[in-house]
Amino acid sequence: MAIIELRNVGKTYGKGECETEALKNVNIKIDEGDFWSIMGPSGSGKSTLLNILGCMDKPSEGEYLFNGKSIEKYSVDELSYVRNTHISFVFQHFALLNDYSVFDNIILPLNCKKMTSSDKKNKAEYYMKQLGIESLGKKKPSQISGGQQQRVAIARALITEPDVILADEPTGALDQKTGEELMKLLKEINIQGKTIIVVTHDEKIANVASKRIYIEDGICHI
Ligand SMILES: Nc1ncnc2c1ncn2[C@@H]1O[C@H](COP(=O)(O)OP(=O)(O)OP(=O)(O)O)[C@@H](O)[C@H]1O
Ligand SMILES: [Mg+2]
Repeated sequence: MAIIELRNVGKTYGKGECETEALKNVNIKIDEGDFWSIMGPSGSGKSTLLNILGCMDKPSEGEYLFNGKSIEKYSVDELSYVRNTHISFVFQHFALLNDYSVFDNIILPLNCKKMTSSDKKNKAEYYMKQLGIESLGKKKPSQISGGQQQRVAIARALITEPDVILADEPTGALDQKTGEELMKLLKEINIQGKTIIVVTHDEKIANVASKRIYIEDGICHI
């Protein structure tokens, strides 16, 4: 069964003269363990699609199914549960809090969970080690490199143990080599069982994924 399925999904922003049809009749099945890339020109609808796949935004038309169940049937609480426990996001500019240490940034998503601080610490240390940033815990994001900041953001995404990781141009602010290393890391995380969807402008980055969506004027070509 697909973990996420979109059926005839459309997304329209604004009204009247300002109306933009950002997605048109999208049909996609994302299976558990898939690694997808989303490519397409600027303004073609990539982020819109990613936000809908991540339950951050609702379609204007069509149906979104998570684990076979239409989100229309979820209560508000169930929907935020889906978002908070099954899905994590990684962004182009990392979205780290600069006043917090690396360690505190990573454990941030656990703050609303009932968990002892030693459990949080153990989890953070596990993912910091996996991502090769175990020596950076006390530093502030501004004191580490872009590639390291993105690893921190990935550790923060992994710490809730989501099924799906969505990344909007995660390598966009990194040089080519660091970007490719980061994609290798995402590939390893994918092999360990996570479903991953990455928006990118870069052909080489897209090739690390095993499935591809090309989007143009809101129309998806799979
Ligand atoms: N919140 C919004 N309100 C109105 N229009 C929007 C909004 N977000 C996106 N759009 C419009 O929807 C279309 C798709 O935008 P989207 O951000 O999904 O493109 P994108 O492919 O991610 O582009 P980029 O590569 O530049 O990030 C664009 O025409 C954009 O102007
Ligand atoms: Mg975008």
